[in-house]
Amino acid sequence: MFASTSAKADRGDTKDSVANIRETGVFAVNIVEYALREAMNRTSGPWACGVDEFADAGLEKGACRTIDCAYVAAAPAVLECKLTQIVQLDGTANFVVFGEVTGVHLRDNCIVDGVFDVTRFSPLARLGYTDYAAVHEVFSMARPEAD
Ligand SMILES: Cc1cc2nc3c(=O)[nH]c(=O)nc-3n(C[C@H](O)[C@H](O)[C@H](O)COP(=O)(O)O)c2cc1C
Repeated sequence: MFASTSAKADRGDTKDSVANIRETGVFAVNIVEYALREAMNRTSGPWACGVDEFADAGLEKGACRTIDCAYVAAAPAVLECKLTQIVQLDGTANFVVFGEVTGVHLRDNCIVDGVFDVTRFSPLARLGYTDYAAVHEVFSMARPEAD
């Protein structure tokens, strides 16, 4: 799921993502790494709905396999999703979009011994305002067994 808030003049009550998903019933979630930060930020601009934001940001498209949708070919991981529900929240132009994951892409160089290894890239996280965090250190902890 993801939440969308606010609207664009050329999309009525929402922005491009929710409007596209209403039309097509599908969406792809692309995980962002530090190396893709500039392209990611470029796609957050208030571009007109007809603009191809892959081309605008210099991103290569891949073709999803279980849905009719493009994904970011360079992304370390991608979830192909079929829309299940759009929930409108109180306030103006607030939506939560839920999807069922029908396909998963894991970049070849992130697979180590058959497992997705997040230390092979630097995942990016959004903080507040214009701040981000890049994950450079990862540790594991086993969950305790019942006493
Ligand atoms: C890292 C990042 C995370 C964002 N997360 C959200 C979010 O969760 N919900 C939202 O409505 N806008 C979010 N935005 C802002 C949208 O990217 C921006 O409003 C964009 O124009 C919306 O795209 P759309 O018109 O294609 O839907 C985010 C922007 C960035 C750079």
